[in-house]
Amino acid sequence: MSRKLLIDIHTHLYLPRYAQLLRARSQIPRITTLNGEERLVILAGEAATGRPVGPSYWDRDAKLRFMDTHGIAISIVSPANPWLDFLPPAPALQTCEALNSDLEEYCATSPEVELGGRRRKRLYGMGYLPVVPGQEVGGVCAAVEALGKLPHIKGVILGTQGLGKGLDDPALLPMWESIAKAGLVVFLHPHYGMPPEVWGAQENGHVLPLALGFPFETTTAVARLILTGILDKLPALKLLLAHSGGALPVLSSRLASCIAHDPVAASRLAHDARYYLGRMWYDAVAYGPEELAFVVPTRGTDRLLCGTDHPFFPPLKGEEMWMSVTENLDAVENAPGWSEGEKEGVRGGNAVELFGL
Ligand code: URA
Ligand code: ZN
Repeated sequence: MSRKLLIDIHTHLYLPRYAQLLRARSQIPRITTLNGEERLVILAGEAATGRPVGPSYWDRDAKLRFMDTHGIAISIVSPANPWLDFLPPAPALQTCEALNSDLEEYCATSPEVELGGRRRKRLYGMGYLPVVPGQEVGGVCAAVEALGKLPHIKGVILGTQGLGKGLDDPALLPMWESIAKAGLVVFLHPHYGMPPEVWGAQENGHVLPLALGFPFETTTAVARLILTGILDKLPALKLLLAHSGGALPVLSSRLASCIAHDPVAASRLAHDARYYLGRMWYDAVAYGPEELAFVVPTRGTDRLLCGTDHPFFPPLKGEEMWMSVTENLDAVENAPGWSEGEKEGVRGGNAVELFGL
């Protein structure tokens, strides 16, 4: 590939210690063996067969090979769902500490690349937080502080369950404060989707939960978060939304209008809802130029960053180039009306800025 700089900010791993944890379990989430092959079972509804799982999920050399194949210079890796969500509070704290230390090691010992005349690692990380039902928020804040001291950790990955009541739970305010203080980026990522009954009785595999459930989960979680007024309280909080913010970009004006018509909700916010959406960052994992164009008109391309969602969505016939990657790169290339400079920013420059690379 001839591109100058490509940085992948949406790319996952299961650290070997986490894969072992899943292998030892008999309930979802788990790694099980079917006909001699390991299978990953993390979503309700895939219990019968699970999905193929292998070294691309845990082997660092496999990640680096994937990066080389696709011309990716640097990846900001984040643990894949469902993180620690299923653990009780005390094991979540201990496992979080051990896994974040593994992640720091994974990144710190990765090869280097030259970026703007300086040597940089090829791998940086966004760590786990022990955010599980019943957890004391003080334990979460301690984990944030510990992560902030790890030199190759640039952020945290966060699902939507919070301490059991979602991300708009007032009990989480100290967590948001400590994340903002540590200067870590929050990568908001879905796992739960929508209640299974909304998908109907027809067998459609994972299509609807992944295509619609994941982004709708992000959409509702972020709308709820905006409605707490958190971004007025914490202007330094950096939120990066998976899958281009789900349906938020296309619903942003409707959300703003509904808030404006609701005095209770409106009284909690200093600005129009579109202002808060403009304060967030978005991955460019939307699979089409028209969809990227939804994200950009009000946001500006400087808040959009490339991602691959590796190792999910692998090629079905073993092709070297992953369609899930090339589709997203083509979408950036063909985004309507973007200058070359804007495209370069989305491919890499914006990530350098956001993560301080
Ligand atoms: N499927 C998942 O479970 N997680 C992802 O991040 C992508 C696809
Ligand atoms: Zn993902």
